[in-house]
Amino acid sequence: MSYPLWPHTGDPFRTGAGARRAITAEWESKGLGSRPRPSASIGALPAEHIEVLASARPDVVSFHFGIENRAVVAELKAAGITVVASATTVEEARLVELAGADVVIAQGLEAGGHRGTFTGVDASGQAGLFSLLPQIVDAVELPVVAAGGIAEGRSIAAAFMLGASAVQIGSAFLRCPEANVPEAYRQVVAEATDTSTRISHKQSGRPARMIRNRLFDVLEEVEGAPQPFPTQLDLTDPLEDAGDADAMLLFAGQSACLARSLPAADLIAALAQETTERLAQGSPIRRGSISPTSPPE
Ligand SMILES: Cc1cc2nc3c(=O)[nH]c(=O)nc-3n(C[C@H](O)[C@H](O)[C@H](O)COP(=O)(O)O)c2cc1C
Repeated sequence: MSYPLWPHTGDPFRTGAGARRAITAEWESKGLGSRPRPSASIGALPAEHIEVLASARPDVVSFHFGIENRAVVAELKAAGITVVASATTVEEARLVELAGADVVIAQGLEAGGHRGTFTGVDASGQAGLFSLLPQIVDAVELPVVAAGGIAEGRSIAAAFMLGASAVQIGSAFLRCPEANVPEAYRQVVAEATDTSTRISHKQSGRPARMIRNRLFDVLEEVEGAPQPFPTQLDLTDPLEDAGDADAMLLFAGQSACLARSLPAADLIAALAQETTERLAQGSPIRRGSISPTSPPE
């Protein structure tokens, strides 16, 4: 069993002509030179790739757009590798477990970057982490990692309360100096709000959450399908070299606005301390909010 592809696949030379024209215009307006040739669309992981992984023996291999079949997963595990995979629905979490993975990541709808979706469920039918996490925890025996919208000790503690064994955090690190993003990107993240992001497949060829900007709207308005992933991404990603925050893809999640400008190690230390304090405190009711012991007047 293998579900590596979202339905949007195809010949990168034959599909997405409108998107290609729109991206060409962006390249030309930025003076970025000639566009790179489109690459082939992705398929199942090649055998050579698996061999390299099995011999390099990283501690963890994480699958994002679907998990490989049981034989491949078993080969990786036999090499001492912990196999992890993302799921955006309960059914996907069950498929990850059936494939023999060690850990499943519950990726809530809040998450920045690409949806790990591999069963074709539309994003409008996918759950936020608060709903998804306990449902996945109940559906599988595997340890569950919570992902999506987590940026502070409050949300880490909440994830643990909902049954997570660990959390995966992306967007909260975008303002760290270690994050490999242009300064203009970092600046937009600093100014983001709760309503800044959207999910669409039209910018990279697969559904992903990002901060809406001019490039987002330009590609959203192109008629017809984009080029298949990763061809479309190969062409849109390098636009960030021009340094214009309105003409680059700004992958980020709904809690990007909570990202702090701190070195990554300091952020990790702060998150650990906040989580410990929050869990020790128990009730997270804010001062001034309605509490069971002080009903509103
Ligand atoms: C800029 C960015 C790049 C990402 N790249 C990857 C990636 O290459 N592989 C992957 O498995 N997940 C990737 N993710 C998704 C994260 O694994 C995770 O699902 C997400 O960041 C969690 O939500 P959060 O961004 O709200 O913390 C990326 C996320 C962001 C924000």
